Amino acid sequence: MRKIAKAVAALAVVSALALSGCGSGRTETPAASGSASAAGFAKDAVVGVALPQKTSENWVLAEGLFNDGLKAAGFTPSVQFANGGVTEQQNQISAMIEKGAKVLIVGAIDGGQLGTQLDAAKKAGITVIAYDRLLTNTQNVDYYVAFDNFKVGVLQGQALLQGLQARKGTKQKWNVELIAGSPDDSNAKVFFDGAMSVLKPKIDDGTLTVLSKQTSFEQVVTQGWKAENAQKRMDTVLSGFYQSAELDGILSPNDTLARAAMASVAAASKPLPVVTGQDSEVESVKSIIAGKQYSTIFKDTNKLVAQSIVMAQALQQGKTPEVNDTKSYNNGVKVVPSYLLPPVIVTKDNAATVYANDKTLGPLTKA
Ligand code: BGC
Repeated sequence: MRKIAKAVAALAVVSALALSGCGSGRTETPAASGSASAAGFAKDAVVGVALPQKTSENWVLAEGLFNDGLKAAGFTPSVQFANGGVTEQQNQISAMIEKGAKVLIVGAIDGGQLGTQLDAAKKAGITVIAYDRLLTNTQNVDYYVAFDNFKVGVLQGQALLQGLQARKGTKQKWNVELIAGSPDDSNAKVFFDGAMSVLKPKIDDGTLTVLSKQTSFEQVVTQGWKAENAQKRMDTVLSGFYQSAELDGILSPNDTLARAAMASVAAASKPLPVVTGQDSEVESVKSIIAGKQYSTIFKDTNKLVAQSIVMAQALQQGKTPEVNDTKSYNNGVKVVPSYLLPPVIVTKDNAATVYANDKTLGPLTKA
């Protein structure tokens, strides 16, 4: 079964590569002379992929897709997780540089803690691509490939409001609580800011009330994206502020934390609130189909990995990789040229359509 899934995933990457090569209507331009990529490099060069901890299914999926996709493209992949934390990831990146990698694709645990390694990468003439999470406070990141994270947050905020109207529309004022991701992941604040761009005006005009008054990012973060941390905080919030009041909705930044929040609500024997999510994890998609979790976000990992490999191929050929955004993602030092993919909001209403071609999720949507 596993082998079949892997083969299907590899095929998906290869066909996505083919598609992005001839379907975009745009072609890569030769790099300006003097830039790191002008000369190109050997077809079988080492491409290092540094992944963070396995905090959600998307990262696990990315590992296999990178291994298969990079091999299919002719490269020598070196793909590693850093389950032990930041120091392990720093060491892994140093080892990839030692191995002679020509491209580093980095999904950072903490995008601000890799400065020394990225300096070394730059000195070695390596092109650095930030994958999914931006690398912050460094000059030494060349490209960013990700789903538009701010847009993810906006979609989550909109889904929360839509869900409250759809499921709890007998009232027009609702109590909600907010959860954010891990503060060391640069995405967490961007998701939160995107959601708050939609929710803050509704808190300010009294449509939404946060009884705990925990509305700043720092107050609502979840260290390490760990389910138990979100669940513990929700337990405390529920017992402190919702003994007699009803909690109508929870902004959750991803599916793992959504399920943790719902577990907390169930343990407190409270009615089910509207809960948002992200990542289209199997358990959450089942929950959405069963009418429990309200929404998730579909970010097709096949596409994100394929886009990263397309960038590596352009560099190999001495071309400048295509980007589609040169203004949105400032890392504190510079705006990083980005290739952003569009995230898709999923509720019970559109799950069957969105996942129609997904081998794992599609069948879950059939009654
Ligand atoms: C990713 C999310 C994921 C989270 C925890 C974020 O950086 O963009 O998709 O849920 O990390 O793994």
